[in-house]
Amino acid sequence: MQIHDTIAGLRAALKSAGRVALVPTMGNLHAGHIALMTQARNHGDAVVATIFVNRLQFRPGEDFEKYPRTFEADCDKLAAAGVDHLFAPAEAEMYPQPQTYHVEPPPEQADILDGAFRPGHFRGVATVVMKLFQIAQPDAALFGKKDFQQLMVIRNMARDFSLPIEIVAGETVRAADGLALSSRNGYLTPAERAEAPRLWRTLTKVVEAIRAGSRDFAGLERQASAEMAAHGWFPAYIAVRDKFNLQLPPAHDSGLVVLAAAKDRQCNARC
Ligand code: PAF
Repeated sequence: MQIHDTIAGLRAALKSAGRVALVPTMGNLHAGHIALMTQARNHGDAVVATIFVNRLQFRPGEDFEKYPRTFEADCDKLAAAGVDHLFAPAEAEMYPQPQTYHVEPPPEQADILDGAFRPGHFRGVATVVMKLFQIAQPDAALFGKKDFQQLMVIRNMARDFSLPIEIVAGETVRAADGLALSSRNGYLTPAERAEAPRLWRTLTKVVEAIRAGSRDFAGLERQASAEMAAHGWFPAYIAVRDKFNLQLPPAHDSGLVVLAAAKDRQCNARC
């Protein structure tokens, strides 16, 4: 695996690489990321991973400083997964001066769900992803469904800017007890880790109720939130949405997604 820390170095290496499949990450890689790397092989001659903890998508007081940085271990995992190139720039390479131009996703996509709790987050994500797209010029780019709203924002950005990039979704990889793998799971204490899969179990009940014919989406959301709250959780949202635009679905909608983010004291979990 070739490791590049400059834009010029990556571009030079990719000149004769053929079709490029890009997997952007912030590092601290787990099996969910590695599944994306493996999937990327079906979409390109060269698989390019990026590791960059993007300050623009963190709000003041969020975990930018303490976000786990595990570069050596990440390199070993990427090399073992057969990744061809890793782009891991320093902040000064990505943002040599403060970023003044931004990609602004529309509020109806960016200010709902996660965005309602993290104002500006999706603007930071869209801006860095656009920048990574310009740098690597991939033919395909892969993102996990765990961050479903992020996937939708990036898909719509690629469509609206006519980017010649296929946006490919990767399935969420879960631990045996159902918890979605996430770099931030490392923040959980053993007790919080044991409790965290409750969110997945609660969501699964909502999915099962819908599959069994319930169309009272608001009622199901309320019931699920109450169940989480009864166990000491603070649900940010548990939401049944149209999976293409994340808006409230009409009762006859069959393309649905159930999304949730909830806090258990200091811990965050997303399904
Ligand atoms: O999902 C992530 O790890 C990040 O939001 C991304 C897409 C790499 C942009 O910084």
